[in-house]
Amino acid sequence: MDYLPFTRPSIDEETIAGVAEVLRSGWITSGPCVKQLEQELSHYFGGRPVRAMSSATGALEIALQVAGVEAGDEVITTPLSWVATANVVLRAGAKPVFVDVDPATRNIDLERIEAAITPRTRALLPVDMAGLPVNRDRLYDIARRRSLRVIEDAAQSMGASWNGRRIGSCGDLVAISFHANKNITSGEGGCLVLTDPAETELCTRLRLQGVVRLPDGNQEVEVAGGKHNLTDIAARIGLGQLKHLDAFTPRRRFLAQRYFECFDAASGCELPLADYTNCNWHMFQVLLPLARMRMDRGGFIQAMHQRGIGVGVHYPAMHLFKLYRKLGYNPGDFPHAERVGGATVTLPLFPDMADADVERVCAAVAEIIRENKK
Ligand SMILES: Cc1ncc(COP(=O)(O)O)c(C=O)c1O
Repeated sequence: MDYLPFTRPSIDEETIAGVAEVLRSGWITSGPCVKQLEQELSHYFGGRPVRAMSSATGALEIALQVAGVEAGDEVITTPLSWVATANVVLRAGAKPVFVDVDPATRNIDLERIEAAITPRTRALLPVDMAGLPVNRDRLYDIARRRSLRVIEDAAQSMGASWNGRRIGSCGDLVAISFHANKNITSGEGGCLVLTDPAETELCTRLRLQGVVRLPDGNQEVEVAGGKHNLTDIAARIGLGQLKHLDAFTPRRRFLAQRYFECFDAASGCELPLADYTNCNWHMFQVLLPLARMRMDRGGFIQAMHQRGIGVGVHYPAMHLFKLYRKLGYNPGDFPHAERVGGATVTLPLFPDMADADVERVCAAVAEIIRENKK
């Protein structure tokens, strides 16, 4: 039986041919394909300005600068995310202030945010874990009342929506990833969705060394920008992917629904929130009943691998990393994030997997847990 990875991008032949065309064109870095991708993304996000980036990490770094986050500021975020979310805050010289997650959504617990706000708080940086959107109404209610900027780490949210509105089509600054594992990919890449023309102009400058090209051929630099531009090679992949997004998302939702139907309740695994309208099902993650198992998560992953099934871990709670413990965070600070981060496994879910693959995965999970019961 073929090895089933936990995810795999679906790249069609037309896209592969399109990339070959870009390679033959003589213009492979940022050029016409990046422009076209930005236009198509802007259209997708209801006409908002979009800047393509070489990663969502770069988009988040720029968003923090655009939002005016500086050394000494605090940014409120979740401890349960890819570590990029907190690293970008540190790299801006600010402090990530973690707020525990809601165990039902595994996203930042909005009810706990206000207690974490101090006079130094500058922005909220929520994450839509696995593409399940944070409640945007409550989030922006807090932001408005407390005069805070919001930088949405929507790295995993392409194709997700909040009450009928696409994530990216509303809100403050929205950073999206096109990394290879995401719902649409450009290999590596991402984008920042903005609203304000002046901030969009600043974002454009920060993306590439701060350089402004003048009509007389001269250049001017007023801000120390970075190097976050997307290549046309990557943008061409992204253009080919965007066409399929409206098919990918329902396919992911269907597969997620199959998981709920096929999962053996007796396994004792904790399933994610069953949301088939807002969530884009970027990942299907269950919490293992480790206290009732004679094996740890590593053993489970190995046993799945031996059955030809790939499993991911997204993610350990960030405040337990040495870097963040140095800031004063300790085990026990965020019990929900620690429990989820310690027991979570990502099971295969991607548009090209077969319906029967879901049954195969569920049977393997149930069997391994049954055979390793304490
Ligand atoms: C929640 C979250 N934030 C940020 C990122 C960073 O995205 P990129 O790899 O495009 O820099 C990722 C990527 O996995 C992510 O999942």
